[in-house]
Amino acid sequence: MKQHPAITKGNVAVITGGASGIGLASAKRFAGFGLKVVLADLAGAALERAAAEVAAISSKAEVLAVATDVSVLTDVQRLKQLAFQKFGAVHVLMNNAGIGNGGGPTEKYERWQKVLGVNLWGVINGVQCFADAIAAQGVPGLVINTGSKQGITCPPGDTAYNVSKAGVKVLTEALAHELRNRPGCKTTAHLLIPGHAWTGITGRPVDAPESAKPAGAWTADQVVDFLLERLAEGSFYILCPDNDVSHALDARRIQWAADDIIQNRPALSRWHPDYKDKFAAYVKDVTR
Ligand SMILES: NC(=O)c1ccc[n+]([C@@H]2O[C@H](COP(=O)([O-])OP(=O)(O)OC[C@H]3O[C@@H](n4cnc5c(N)ncnc54)[C@H](O)[C@@H]3O)[C@@H](O)[C@H]2O)c1
Repeated sequence: MKQHPAITKGNVAVITGGASGIGLASAKRFAGFGLKVVLADLAGAALERAAAEVAAISSKAEVLAVATDVSVLTDVQRLKQLAFQKFGAVHVLMNNAGIGNGGGPTEKYERWQKVLGVNLWGVINGVQCFADAIAAQGVPGLVINTGSKQGITCPPGDTAYNVSKAGVKVLTEALAHELRNRPGCKTTAHLLIPGHAWTGITGRPVDAPESAKPAGAWTADQVVDFLLERLAEGSFYILCPDNDVSHALDARRIQWAADDIIQNRPALSRWHPDYKDKFAAYVKDVTR
């Protein structure tokens, strides 16, 4: 299969949140294509184990694990310095580290700070530290930021998470615009929007067998398959379905959310009792 031109043997990929889930599955795939991989995640056994798993695919010399808290600018600056020091270049940056369990609008102030620190500031830190350096190399480059449908349709519940992911969407859109307007720039930016994937953040226990996956969820590998396919064709919005939610259903949900503004409906009308039946009717011909 054709790949995005930055995904090429000998190139270098930096992946945050690389010790688990979508980040680890991406790291393994990149290593399989012959890329050198820098895994950035919180210090601990998971990062060491992930580095060993990726090294088993390529070689120990081509994998670097860097203990990094993405919410801390100096950690991300150090990550950049170590990546360039070891491999001399970075072609792919995947700002993917994320946490959930934020909170509603009026609660859990400290948790809000934590979730925004990792999910939004982590991505801002990654973009600010790496994007210019990647683009300045003059060869194909790639920035993938992991967002969420929750940053687009904003379901009630974890508002802190929704705010963080809405911010990632806005930042990534602006980065794509900025890069495509730089004369001769060969670096592109993309927003990965996973559906329900069975990973740490959705409760997958470490070392759980694949057979225990909830039926509706995708595996992290399926997300990576879809990501690579859409990157190859040049998509900016990489909106993944899952086994419960089709692209057609996502399209209706996103359209409904946008129509709240245009039609001056109540905020989050999809979850408003007066609109329950109208929303159900709006999506009823979409099978799943
Ligand atoms: N799994 C899903 O259903 C789903 C859906 C939409 C979006 N996402 C997003 O996908 C991304 C990857 O998550 P995942 O599903 O693979 O979950 P995961 O929990 O398996 O992986 C997330 C990784 O981020 C790391 N991390 C957390 N805080 C960090 C920090 N401060 N610095 C560095 N690393 C940190 C964790 O240690 C973990 O290894 C996240 O941004 C998440 O919000 C996931």
